Amino acid sequence: MHNSILEKFTVEPLQQMRDSHTYRTMRLIESPEASRVTLRTTINEAPCEQILLASNSYLDLANVEELKQAMAKAVLDWGTGSGGARLTTGNKTPHQKLEAEIAKFKGEEAAITFNTGYMANVGTISALCGKNDFIFSDELNHASIIDGIRLSKAKCLVYKHNDLNDLERVIAEAQKSVSDFRGLIVTDAVFSMDGDLANLPELLRIAHTHGCLLMIDEAHATGVIGHTGRGLAEHYGCEHADVTVGTLSKAVACEGGFVVGKQQLIDYLRNKSRSFIFTTAMAPAVAAAACNNLKFIDAHPERVQQLQENVKFFCECLRYEGLTVPQTDSAIVPIVIGDEAAALNASAELQQRGLLIPAIRYPTVAKGQARLRASLMATHTREELKRAATVIAQVIKSTN
Ligand SMILES: Cc1ncc(COP(=O)(O)O)c(C=O)c1O
Repeated sequence: MHNSILEKFTVEPLQQMRDSHTYRTMRLIESPEASRVTLRTTINEAPCEQILLASNSYLDLANVEELKQAMAKAVLDWGTGSGGARLTTGNKTPHQKLEAEIAKFKGEEAAITFNTGYMANVGTISALCGKNDFIFSDELNHASIIDGIRLSKAKCLVYKHNDLNDLERVIAEAQKSVSDFRGLIVTDAVFSMDGDLANLPELLRIAHTHGCLLMIDEAHATGVIGHTGRGLAEHYGCEHADVTVGTLSKAVACEGGFVVGKQQLIDYLRNKSRSFIFTTAMAPAVAAAACNNLKFIDAHPERVQQLQENVKFFCECLRYEGLTVPQTDSAIVPIVIGDEAAALNASAELQQRGLLIPAIRYPTVAKGQARLRASLMATHTREELKRAATVIAQVIKSTN
């Protein structure tokens, strides 16, 4: 009886996913996150070494000895868990220090941390906006932004990707429809599947001309964009967005999300954001580790610059091999294939040849836009990148 009810919910959707090549499985990696990893393909086969061109750990900090030692010490100092929500007993010294460090790194008044970047987006948007508000959202925004918008119940107008004329058009439409207008523009800073950047100076101009708040999500920008990795404001040499979200799980190589901005914004979120209030605080040792990793980035801007040089070099190699890749200032290099099955085949063939680059498919990207999503690390060597570009070109030509 029980099983047949479960089947009603699951059998058909699972079959549909299998039929459309969108059914997901997980790879098993048997070594720490680094530029080379040990991959277990099947239980019967020996694990094999792969060059990892798919990590969000852009600065390759997850396995740095001094940072691991610092995290281990933090566990000894602070134990394994926080034991309570931030507003009850969970708020420990490392949480406070982390927030001060994030605000300093980002050059903002104050910061608040969440347990994940996902929770930061969901909790911030739903705290700021309600059903009478308008949210203007780039069509390629991350799922956590979309989920935050849904939770807020605000009226959402989606504008074409990075099309600021279209943004102004939807704002004008919304402003005409009500007398008491409140609007939030929200966008990824670096688009996670395309690697392109939002135009912060223009977005600021539009937001402030039309009396909107501007929120950007710097998940893939922190530690990557700008000469010292501080993000879009550093890259463009402009002021900050009103609300900047980020994650500690990518270039910072730890866990957690954050929001930075004016003290008033942070005080508001501490009181209103449900994904901040109704959850146990991150383990203090995790907060201490994130803080140490951020300080490491601050002390090693050359690592950010090495990443930027690697991206430039890799794109040149791919173009030399005859592949079309967009201009990118981020660490994400999309190689669009189109067909879901072809992208999967290419990724599998690359794996056979020692390169780990996943195929990204619907629903993460639009149907027919399946791609290899390469992401680079500061520690990839020129030899690795050159060889990778040659192999990718060979595989794409042979699987097309
Ligand atoms: C643009 C963007 N925002 C937010 C997140 C969520 O961050 P986290 O992994 O810390 O939950 C991600 C990816 O995970 C992302 O790509």
